[in-house]
Amino acid sequence: MRDKHVVGNWKLNGSLAGNDSLVRAILAGVTPRAGRHLAVCVPAPYLAQAQSLLKGTPVAWGGQDVSRFEKGAYTGEVSGAMLREFGATFAIVGHSERRTLFGDTDAVVAEKFASARKAGLVPILCVGETLAEREGGTTEPVLARQLDAVLARVGAAGLDGALVAYEPVWAIGTGRTATAAQAQEAHAFLRGRVAGQDAAVAARLPMLYGGSVKGSNAAELFAMPDVDGGLIGGASLVAEDFLAIWRAAVAAE
Ligand code: PGA
Repeated sequence: MRDKHVVGNWKLNGSLAGNDSLVRAILAGVTPRAGRHLAVCVPAPYLAQAQSLLKGTPVAWGGQDVSRFEKGAYTGEVSGAMLREFGATFAIVGHSERRTLFGDTDAVVAEKFASARKAGLVPILCVGETLAEREGGTTEPVLARQLDAVLARVGAAGLDGALVAYEPVWAIGTGRTATAAQAQEAHAFLRGRVAGQDAAVAARLPMLYGGSVKGSNAAELFAMPDVDGGLIGGASLVAEDFLAIWRAAVAAE
């Protein structure tokens, strides 16, 4: 049985005061369990705050993106080493908002993934189809293309120890969650694709679902055999909502 992960993605939200009360409320309600992992991915300026609030607690932290460059004249970029210096465990790469709004291509995502690994971070590779792609019947080719770009760059061994998040774009922030069966189908497809290169890596690869996960649907999603937790946007900004999802992960088999 694989571990389960619940990872919050705060996106472009937060303030020093707001983060402080959110994190303290999460810490007050979190009941740890072996094999269950909780983390928050915060805006880069709040990494130091996350580190000081979360160090030594059961909650890990990470960045929402990482530069594909290590250092140099790349204004605005944040390197993997910088994230590591603030104790980050994770870096999200290839979130659909980065892909659609900021031009992160499959090739760029693969480079970011490789740089996160090189810096010692655990990349959370996001993949997912748009509504038009789902309705056009191209969900699997789209997922395959996004995953294959990373496999081509780092190989199946490079995926070992990372996390994958299946996030259908039509479910992100829309309140429209994929059904547990839709999530399971996509996860099984992705796992099968990795298995085509390395069955052992595929078998232990944690695969999160993201897109309008809430306390009310988390248990059903997490009960699916290939759904190993969730990447949580909106609901990670409200301690009680985030904790309800955490409790579903704790209770899951
Ligand atoms: P959501 O976002 O939970 O608000 O739908 C998920 C994500 O984008 O990671």
